[in-house]
Amino acid sequence: MERFTDRIAVVTGAAQGIGAAIAQRLAAEGAAVAVVDLSAERARPVVETITAAGGRAVALGCDVTDPAAVTAMTDEVVATFGQLDILVNNAGITRDNLLFKMPAQDWDAVLTTNLSSMFHCCQAAQRHMVPARYGKIVNLSSRSALGNRGQVNYAAAKAGVQGLTATLAIELGPYGINVNAVAPGFVATAMTAAVAARIGMDTEQHRRQVAEQTPLRRVGRPEEIASVVAFLASEDASYVSGQTLYVNGGAR
Ligand code: NAI
Repeated sequence: MERFTDRIAVVTGAAQGIGAAIAQRLAAEGAAVAVVDLSAERARPVVETITAAGGRAVALGCDVTDPAAVTAMTDEVVATFGQLDILVNNAGITRDNLLFKMPAQDWDAVLTTNLSSMFHCCQAAQRHMVPARYGKIVNLSSRSALGNRGQVNYAAAKAGVQGLTATLAIELGPYGINVNAVAPGFVATAMTAAVAARIGMDTEQHRRQVAEQTPLRRVGRPEEIASVVAFLASEDASYVSGQTLYVNGGAR
């Protein structure tokens, strides 16, 4: 059964990694997907995989830290497809460092990209969702929200995502809009490969080390986050709102 037939979805940061897997999953279940990333060129290869599989998608360039660009992006989606049903706020960056070495610019960049961007995207999307009395918003938090050495900026942003999610569920619920978050543990993407590089470890060796500390004894795959995002964006989760679901192989 296709859960997203006639649904229009926006996935930010969807040119690679978890965002690409989410865009592909939603499209595979029938949604038309706006694959949004810093440039349309970056997003195009993902669109090609979706269309090659028989799905519908467009590539859109949008820096989600820029409120005007975000408004223009959501307006373009609605102009193209007529509506906006699903927003997945996935774009994110890391700028890891211990507190005493962290430049203020790296604090600002991570808060702006990982948290303020969600404020802008939710604000722009609700202009279309509220009149339609329908919407599904899924935000990417992280296990790091609980605290992670070297990630004071990222942990604060991802904890902020959980507060934003809980609050928007309250504010937007009366309009038929569900707002939830997914908090992945370690997923094998370019983002975590960069962590390995920063601490001077081989990517595979780093993944094996993380896997040993994870109850399921392996790291996550982007598709395993995408399936949970799809659940939360679907009517299977119609009475779920304001929640953060940890998807981390059982790690405590
Ligand atoms: P990634 O680094 O592979 O991909 C992130 C994408 O976001 C890139 O395509 C990048 O161009 C895009 N992006 C960055 N800044 C942007 C901006 N200002 N505007 C538009 N697009 C922008 O990252 P990954 O690993 O796929 O992570 C996706 C999300 O999942 C992020 O929010 C991340 O914090 C979160 N996450 C990832 C985990 C992991 O283990 N990989 C664990 C927990 C959360």
